[in-house]
Amino acid sequence: MREKPTQEGVGGFSSRKKRWSSLLPLFVAFVVIAEIMFLTRLDMAKNASMVHTWTNTFYYPSSTSLPVVGGEEEFDINCEDWLEREDDVEYSRDFVKDPILVSGVEEDWRSCSVACKFGHYAASDKKPDAAFGLPNDPVIAGVLRSMEASSYYPDNNLDQARRRGYKVVMTTSLSSDVPVGYFSWAEYDIMAPMQSKTEDSLAAAFISNCGARNFRLQALDMLEKLNIKIDSYGRCHQNHNGRVDKLETLKRYKFSLAFENSNEEDYVTEKYFQSLVAGTIPVVVGAPNIKDFAPSPGSILHVKDLSDVPSIAKAMKSLAENPDAYNQSLRWKYEGPSDYFKALVDMAAVHSSCRLCIHLATKIREQEERSIRFQKRPCNCTRGIETVHHLFVRERGRFEMESIFLRSGNLTLLALESAVHAKFKSLNHVPMWKQERPESIRGDELKVYRIYPINLTQRQALYTFRFSGDADFAICVERNPCAKFEVIFV
Ligand SMILES: *[C@@H]1O[C@H](CO)[C@@H](O)[C@H](O)[C@H]1NC(C)=O
Ligand SMILES: *[C@@H]1O[C@H](CO)[C@@H](O)[C@H](O)[C@H]1NC(C)=O
Ligand SMILES: *[C@@H]1O[C@H](CO)[C@@H](O)[C@H](O)[C@H]1NC(C)=O
Ligand SMILES: *[C@@H]1O[C@H](CO)[C@@H](O)[C@H](O)[C@H]1NC(C)=O
Repeated sequence: MREKPTQEGVGGFSSRKKRWSSLLPLFVAFVVIAEIMFLTRLDMAKNASMVHTWTNTFYYPSSTSLPVVGGEEEFDINCEDWLEREDDVEYSRDFVKDPILVSGVEEDWRSCSVACKFGHYAASDKKPDAAFGLPNDPVIAGVLRSMEASSYYPDNNLDQARRRGYKVVMTTSLSSDVPVGYFSWAEYDIMAPMQSKTEDSLAAAFISNCGARNFRLQALDMLEKLNIKIDSYGRCHQNHNGRVDKLETLKRYKFSLAFENSNEEDYVTEKYFQSLVAGTIPVVVGAPNIKDFAPSPGSILHVKDLSDVPSIAKAMKSLAENPDAYNQSLRWKYEGPSDYFKALVDMAAVHSSCRLCIHLATKIREQEERSIRFQKRPCNCTRGIETVHHLFVRERGRFEMESIFLRSGNLTLLALESAVHAKFKSLNHVPMWKQERPESIRGDELKVYRIYPINLTQRQALYTFRFSGDADFAICVERNPCAKFEVIFV
């Protein structure tokens, strides 16, 4: 987290300012001379004392008025330090003193990187920033939070919720503002060791709502007709006593029928994650994008529609008869899941209530950044033909931003990644998920997985967004002074 400038520094600054003001005309003259000298490429580098003074003068962007900086020691300042200071405009709301307030029941979650309180605001003299439901007061952001599929609860549909006036939507959809998934390292011991598959039947099923609004019952029917032996512990097609430990039972089967009750993007429930814990191959009816949730490519079977059932049945039989191929599908259990899977599940290492507060605080800051004080920040600094751009980056799941700098001569994605990596490494940064992930897959190197403009949804951040190239990235930086990014480490 960044340090606030101290009172001491501010005082020192103003006294130096006074001393300098009498020298201002000379300073202006210097800049003009320096500029002329540079443009005519006079080789003044030999005069060390001159170089020391005038090159630094160049650091100030010609577009903004002359910075009123202090005495001689200020000339030592480089572009980066100057930007760090000039762009550090103080925000009017200090969240430490004035935390994000959400009206609602206090919940049990660990610390959050932005100060954040849940409670009944009747007890406070302040209005909350947000409240669950649709508040009458337009100043208070209405939050919709639900983990139900929108085919059962149409209000959970993102567009529908927005139309109804919710400012913040928290659903299983990774396109919602603050996604609330069923997954987390804490909830599911995903790397739990495997057991040998002792059951003769190929698959176990725990399906109890036999009137689901998708084709899962037909799929179950079809699999049985294709001679896939299924032990059914749920109410639908039940042939086994359901009073068993579900997880322990699943562990003994080669396959688990993870059939959701609706086929909705990102709607992936414990049915699926328990199969991963159990080390059984999930056969999925559910989210059309279930592959995004696979621990590694080729680790799950997806019944996209009924016409897939025969080929899925064939695949199940073939894997069951071929121990090496079967083992290959569960290789991630030994070697760890893919980066894309870690990046997804890591999101849940920060409690959704904390992510809500970060979301709200970020919006409050953005609002303030539209004010003239912030519009005046230089955000870049031109030194001869080169411009140094000031960018801000934070890790997903944290609130505070860190500064990084990129040069116009190297405004590339590689330079961005390298600057982000170097910055967080220099801070001895510990990723958010470090304590949450199973020890065997924590790794010990900081590895950048994605960097994306702040405010993208998780669906965009993890799957759909990419800068189309260096030129695209450069345009983004040039068009967005003090551009903000988020990084996901894996
Ligand atoms: C260096 O600059 C100083 C003025 O700052 C001047 O007096 C001196 O002659 C210069 N030396 C050379 C080698 O240019
Ligand atoms: C499965 O593969 C892992 C390595 O990926 C190996 O350690 C394990 O012994 C294999 N198990 C079987 C039953 O072949
Ligand atoms: C641009 O940045 C990358 C990453 O830091 C670095 O490897 C490369 O040498 C730089 N290129 C130039 C021209 O400075
Ligand atoms: C520098 O930042 C200003 C706004 O602060 C912007 O108008 C200008 O285009 C930027 N210059 C470059 C070279 O990106």
